[in-house]
Amino acid sequence: MTSEEPMTVALVTGASRGIGRATAVQLAREGHDIAIGYGRDATAAERVAEEVRALGRRAAVAGGDLAHPETSGALVDAAERQLGPVDVLVANAGIAGRPAALADIGVADWDRMQAINLRAPFLLAQRVLPGMVERGFGRTVLVSSIAAYTGGVVGAHYAASKAGLHGLAHSLSRQGAGHGVTVNVVAPAAIDSDMLSDEQTRARLLAATPLGRLGTAEEVADVIAAVVRNGYLTGQSLLLDGGRYPT
Ligand SMILES: NC(=O)c1ccc[n+]([C@@H]2O[C@H](COP(=O)([O-])OP(=O)(O)OC[C@H]3O[C@@H](n4cnc5c(N)ncnc54)[C@H](OP(=O)(O)O)[C@@H]3O)[C@@H](O)[C@H]2O)c1
Repeated sequence: MTSEEPMTVALVTGASRGIGRATAVQLAREGHDIAIGYGRDATAAERVAEEVRALGRRAAVAGGDLAHPETSGALVDAAERQLGPVDVLVANAGIAGRPAALADIGVADWDRMQAINLRAPFLLAQRVLPGMVERGFGRTVLVSSIAAYTGGVVGAHYAASKAGLHGLAHSLSRQGAGHGVTVNVVAPAAIDSDMLSDEQTRARLLAATPLGRLGTAEEVADVIAAVVRNGYLTGQSLLLDGGRYPT
C-alpha cells in the first residue's frame, strides 16, 4: 500500500502454515495489520504473529475448528476486538485428506469437508461483508483449487466443496459491487505444503505439471496480495497451476 491509503486489517484463516502463513506475511509487508486464524496449532500461529510484528505491523491470533459453525463468527470477533474492523478477508483454511474413491466417501466425510471448505468461508463472508459495504471498502479472497475445474485427485467431496466457492464469489461480488468491495477466488494447483505430504500424490501431480515443479506458498500469496491491491477485479477466479489447465 502507499502512504496515502488507509491502514487495513486483514483476517487470514489457516495462517499458521502453508499458503495462509505466506499470505499473512506478504500482506503484512504490504502494510496490513493481520489477524492470524489457526485450527489447532497456536504455537505456529504465534510464530507467524511474530513475523508480522517484525515487519512493523500489528498482529493477533485467533483459533478454533472451522468445522463448527460458531467458530467463524468467533474468529471475526477476536480479530475485531484486538485490531479493529476486518477490511480484508482471506478465507484460506481448508482440508483435503488422502485421495478417496467415490464409494469410500461417507456422509460424515462429505459433511466435514463442506463445513470447513465451503460453509466456513460463507459464514466468514456473511459476517464481514456488511461492515465492508458500510465503510465503502473491502476485499474478500476465497482460496479454491484446480479441483473446482478438473475434479482433481482428492475426491468428489473436495472438488464439490471448492467449486461451491466460485458460486459464492459470484453472488457476493454482486453484493459488494458499487461499495468498493471486491470478492474473488484464487485457485492453486499443486503447491508445496503440508497438504501435499503424500509422496504418491506429489509425484503424480508433479508429472502432470507442464512447468515441471510444484508451486510455492509464496507464489500463491503473491497472487492473493495482487487481488487485494486491485479495486477493479471482482467476481473472478484466478487459476495458478503451472500450466495444467486447459491441457
Ligand atoms: N497445497 C496445495 O497443493 C493446494 C492446492 C489447491 C488448493 N489448496 C488450498 O489452499 C488452502 C491452504 O492449503 P495449504 O496447502 O496451505 O494447507 P496446509 O499447509 O495443510 O494448512 C492448512 C491450514 O488450514 C488450517 N485448518 C485446517 N483445518 C482447519 C479447521 N478445521 N479449522 C480451522 N483451521 C483449519 C490449518 O491450521 P492448523 O495447522 O493450526 O490446524 C492450517 O493453518 C486450502 O484451502 C487448500 O484446499 C492447496
